[in-house]
Amino acid sequence: MIIAIDGPAASGKGTLGKRLAEHYGFAHLDTGLLYRAVARALMDRDIPLTDRDAAAHAAQNLDVSHLEDDTRLRGAAMGEAASVVSAYQPVRDALLAFQRQFAARKPGAVLDGRDIGTVVCPDADVKLFITASPEERARRRHLELQRRGEQAAYETILEDIRRRDERDMSRSTAPLKAAADALTLDTTDLDADAAFDAALKMVESSR
Ligand code: C5P
Repeated sequence: MIIAIDGPAASGKGTLGKRLAEHYGFAHLDTGLLYRAVARALMDRDIPLTDRDAAAHAAQNLDVSHLEDDTRLRGAAMGEAASVVSAYQPVRDALLAFQRQFAARKPGAVLDGRDIGTVVCPDADVKLFITASPEERARRRHLELQRRGEQAAYETILEDIRRRDERDMSRSTAPLKAAADALTLDTTDLDADAAFDAALKMVESSR
């Protein structure tokens, strides 16, 4: 059984993916971490993000173990950098096989990202598309950063989110969009528990 979850930055899809995976005893892959790790591989070597060949090479040679525990991948700057390298087709091609192998795990897998329902797992049993207004997503990200003791202005975060949405939706390769057969969940007015309950109902009704 495969659950595909897509949606924009800070929509809550990662938290939902994790909780659904725990609920069903499935493996969970946050595919954003793969693109973040590619971006970081370039930044660590002072290679500009505009170097497509180097980005492709980094994706082909990516060490995918321990990405989950790597706190250096989580910051806003890395998300921004990931959205640059993720627009390169050879980078996406290099990461596809690993994602599909992961999706085949038994008894099931939850993958979250931007193109899971459309490209990586077009035959997923359940497809969810998670949205929330940019303002609400910025509010959540702002809170999260404050909790971690990091300084960031709400306006800057909102701008960041809008820019990343625009880039992820307008790129020619695997743009962020809901699959035709995805169920859309708008979490703008839902807290984490209510969003999980709603997502669980959607999964149960479509599996
Ligand atoms: O979800 P997260 O914020 O970690 O993703 C970082 C960036 O990686 C996204 O803005 C997007 O450009 C890219 N990404 C992607 N396809 C995925 C997951 C993430 O293009 N499946």
